[in-house]
Amino acid sequence: MLKMVVCVSGGGTNLQAILDSLGSGRITNAEIIAVISNNAGAKALERAAAHHIPGIVMSPKKYPDREAFNEAFTAKMRELGPDLIVLAGFLVRIPPRMVAEFSNRIVNIHPALIPSFCGVGYYGLRVHEKVLERGVKVTGATVHFVNEGMDEGPIIEQKAVRVREGDTPETLQRRVMEQAEWILLPAAIDDIANGRIAVKGERVVRLDTVCRDT
Ligand code: GRF
Repeated sequence: MLKMVVCVSGGGTNLQAILDSLGSGRITNAEIIAVISNNAGAKALERAAAHHIPGIVMSPKKYPDREAFNEAFTAKMRELGPDLIVLAGFLVRIPPRMVAEFSNRIVNIHPALIPSFCGVGYYGLRVHEKVLERGVKVTGATVHFVNEGMDEGPIIEQKAVRVREGDTPETLQRRVMEQAEWILLPAAIDDIANGRIAVKGERVVRLDTVCRDT
């Protein structure tokens, strides 16, 4: 059974998608042992509580400096000892030491098609604002392993979503969530929990089939 810690900052709709998938059997062989939020008011914590999952608040603002937070955060993760850390809308940079200690065991969902619209400054609604500003016609979401870079780790899966005439950042964000994020993240967790993917160098390879589309 894959033990997961899910890290959140806000609404927690991706957390909800994971909880629903665990409930429906779309994710098997996995459980959430804790939810960590940097924000005490996050709705995600209510979603965790409704499922009797321990919620832990760890905010960088409560520490004298980032180094102190990074140490405490990494120590907490070590203590929890998850097999997989899931960043589901987590707006805090993962400490380099944690990335090293949990190498290829941290996944993130990004609301764009990496390597487009990612990196420093591309988070939350800003990603969708930039997509609309640039006028691209297709965007999407990416689930990837986390390495020491920003949105640079091995890509697990991506899904494209059409940009529509008249979209606002909010309508586009919602469509990307509904059509991509809430599907991709649970599917990736299920693949990991059931040993269907592996990291080879910079790339993720599927072990169950040569090509998904054939
Ligand atoms: C999602 O769009 C996620 O991709 C991004 O932040 C948003 C979080 O939404 N990183 P929620 O908290 O899961 O509702």
